[in-house]
Amino acid sequence: MNVDMVSYYKDRAEEYEKIYSKPERQEDLKNATEILQTIFKGKSVLEIACGTGYWTERIAQGAASIFATDINETVIDVAKRKSILNTQVSFGVTDIYNFSSLDKYESLFGGFIWSHIKLQDIKKFLFNVNNLVYPGGTVVFIDNNFVEGSNLPITNTDGKGNTFQTRKLEDGTTHLVLKNFPKEIVLRHKLKNIATEVRIINLTYFWILCYTTRIL
Ligand SMILES: C[S@@+](CC[C@H](N)C(=O)[O-])C[C@H]1O[C@@H](n2cnc3c(N)ncnc32)[C@H](O)[C@@H]1O
Repeated sequence: MNVDMVSYYKDRAEEYEKIYSKPERQEDLKNATEILQTIFKGKSVLEIACGTGYWTERIAQGAASIFATDINETVIDVAKRKSILNTQVSFGVTDIYNFSSLDKYESLFGGFIWSHIKLQDIKKFLFNVNNLVYPGGTVVFIDNNFVEGSNLPITNTDGKGNTFQTRKLEDGTTHLVLKNFPKEIVLRHKLKNIATEVRIINLTYFWILCYTTRIL
């Protein structure tokens, strides 16, 4: 069984967006789209872990510009095939753990990446994220609530409390994928001292976390 999350997403690129067809999630997706479009209206956005550009395409309607990045070129190739009307959208291959930029952004978005960060790495991850945004900038994450029957069951838990799902791709390969489902209290705790105006919007299948980076 493959345990490398990055190669899992590399191989999943062409089938990734099937996840967005789940009938029970459509109402939440519509609401999340409206919320994100409102937050990013008129802003320059750095998107991390953009994947196939599902959210890039939606946020682009109204954002001033988006630099959408991911570690896997295969997913970016799918994103580039979309006809995104906003011409100020560009793509780049970057690893969120080694992403330093001289440019700072007004805002940052990460879709379904928080759940793939090990609990012990969240602090470092948020430090990197905040460094990419101007002090007083906006950071937004969306991720999954665990809903039985809609999400795959958790099959493994490690000694640090990280949880994993066993997933299959259409080519028959099996992958053990890190997928954490943090409680609201944990999200708030991780942002203590590095964020202000923390807002958590709880939909049924998803949570959206929005905060302002602290001006030190
Ligand atoms: C669950 S997908 C989310 C894709 C997209 N944001 C969305 O919401 O549809 C997670 C993405 O994180 C990317 N990823 C995983 N590790 C990464 C890293 N270290 N740096 C940048 N991207 C990473 C994967 O390639 C994958 O596209």
